Amino acid sequence: MYVCMCHAVTEAQVKQEIDGGAVTPRQIAKGCKAGTDCGSCVRRIQALLGEHGARPCPTSRLAARLGLAEPGADAVAGTALEAA
Ligand code: FES
Repeated sequence: MYVCMCHAVTEAQVKQEIDGGAVTPRQIAKGCKAGTDCGSCVRRIQALLGEHGARPCPTSRLAARLGLAEPGADAVAGTALEAA
């Protein structure tokens, strides 16, 4: 499945970058260019990072604390809150 349509980057490619040590969307972008054009895929990239144990961005953590997290983001937010 494609994550970034602008650069035809698949979920598998993003996971490969994560396995290679990327922990931020910027590091993912440096490796495969995902998220460097329109930016509409960045939230999905952040979710993939969270699913694979990376610390979610501060905005996601704040949204979780305020009870504004999106459905399905609980696992990501929970990871951040547990780590904090
Ligand atoms: S869909 Fe990824 S930068 Fe546009």
